[in-house]
Amino acid sequence: MSSIAGIPPISEDALVEESLARSKTIPSAWYVDQRFHSFDRQAVLARTWQYIGPSARVAKHGDFMSDIIAGNPVVIVRDASDDLKGYFNVCKHRGGPLAMEECGHSKVLQCKYHGWTYLLDGSLRGVPRFDRTELFDKKDFGLEPVALREWQGMVFACIEPEYAPAFDDVVAGISERIAPMDLSGLSFNRRDRYQVSSNWKVYVDNYLEGYHIPLVHPDLCSMLDFGSYETETMEHHSVQFSPFRNDDNIYGGTEEEAYYYFIYPNIMLNILPGRLQVNRVDADQHDRCSVVFDYYYAQDIITNQPERIADDLTFSDQVQAEDIEICEHVQRGLESRAYDQGRFSYDLEGGVHHFQQCLKRSYRTAMSNSSS
Ligand code: FES
Ligand SMILES: [Fe+2]
Repeated sequence: MSSIAGIPPISEDALVEESLARSKTIPSAWYVDQRFHSFDRQAVLARTWQYIGPSARVAKHGDFMSDIIAGNPVVIVRDASDDLKGYFNVCKHRGGPLAMEECGHSKVLQCKYHGWTYLLDGSLRGVPRFDRTELFDKKDFGLEPVALREWQGMVFACIEPEYAPAFDDVVAGISERIAPMDLSGLSFNRRDRYQVSSNWKVYVDNYLEGYHIPLVHPDLCSMLDFGSYETETMEHHSVQFSPFRNDDNIYGGTEEEAYYYFIYPNIMLNILPGRLQVNRVDADQHDRCSVVFDYYYAQDIITNQPERIADDLTFSDQVQAEDIEICEHVQRGLESRAYDQGRFSYDLEGGVHHFQQCLKRSYRTAMSNSSS
């Protein structure tokens, strides 16, 4: 159905998938050319499952969350039969918003522009001052649906599900791997958002490797047993591990298991016992992204150990500031005449390689869909 507008120039060479030991990094144009921004939204971010927020925010009939994914406003709402429904947050009259807050409660979806009212099944019900408009049938003006999945206490949405992998394949094995930890047992605590002056893929690349930790995060590095850093890659996700060096850290002892999951193309689940941090990297402009940080904790930590949460937030904020600073420098480097493609550390950049191979596959699929 939907075809992709404006495919940027991509050479066959750049799309070849090579092994980690032999591969070059993707060309700098993919990070700096504005045409790739719109292509990424259409070919990658619209065609994958995007994290929206905690199920707890839409627990009751009429609870809603609104968001923007791949540049498209969406609204998620719990209907009277307890089912979750998702729609483009776009009124069929002249494109107005049905929900303007990030979350709230309403038994119907009423457009905030001229007041058209939709039922939670998406059908158009109330249309004020429209009786003299001819050849108008409300049935033709229902809301456009969005695919949804709830998993481990979180809501995910996809605006082009016909092109997306099955959600169960995307997260296959994660719950089993982290057991006995159970993410659905954690409670949502807060949301932060960081603005970054770099392409979204610079931020993702940076998340996916431990190579930069000694230089960019000296404090974090002193807490980690960096020699044991490992990455594993699966079809739609990868996971990094780096055990803590000793128990003198804010996250407890060396026994603690930490998993840094990356779900292609832009979702991260940073899992420690009793704590989950979910990130979603949004492509805002070709040289700008923003990153949602949702924090979930075990209820016992929220109630009895607020200082542990405060330490976690302070430390996370410091690491984030260090990452943002280096990503913004890297963006300028990629924009310079001096750089096009580099190479990977076999030991420490397997996650970046995996992401870039997945990206090439998305690009190739989108190019062949639109030429067929
Ligand atoms: S745009 Fe929604 S009622 Fe006019
Ligand atoms: Fe980092």
